[in-house]
Amino acid sequence: MKRVLIVLSLLASSAVASEYQPRAGASGAQIFSDACAACHGADGSGKFGLFLGLTGSTLMPDEMKTVIQQGGTVMPAFSNIQGKELDALVSYVRSLGAVIASGDK
Ligand code: HEC
Repeated sequence: MKRVLIVLSLLASSAVASEYQPRAGASGAQIFSDACAACHGADGSGKFGLFLGLTGSTLMPDEMKTVIQQGGTVMPAFSNIQGKELDALVSYVRSLGAVIASGDK
């Protein structure tokens, strides 16, 4: 239910756009630390409380791409992250939970 509300609020909002432009061929880890870690924490475990933790995200890759490109109520829209860089970023974000779950952190 909470997930549904978050998705609805994402669809309904008009987020601020970020000017962030990744370097061509940048790794997911690089993009994450440049553009995402300030809010989501260096390891994706969240800042400002668990609300911003990404490690438990159940979003599918395509849904995650939509959130990144369109932003949320608070999260800016990163429409300049596209193609290869967007793929790399999404697989990196999806790997964060597995790393922590496996106890490798
Ligand atoms: C200014 C702070 C901020 C920055 C920078 C930011 N986010 Fe977010 N992010 C949020 C907030 C807040 C939410 C919750 C939705 C909302 O209200 O905007 C969120 C939600 C998300 C979600 C949805 C999680 C879920 O399971 O529902 C994903 C995925 C995400 N962010 C990824 C990223 C990535 C990847 C980046 C870097 C490109 C990034 N965020 C940069 C604040 C931020």
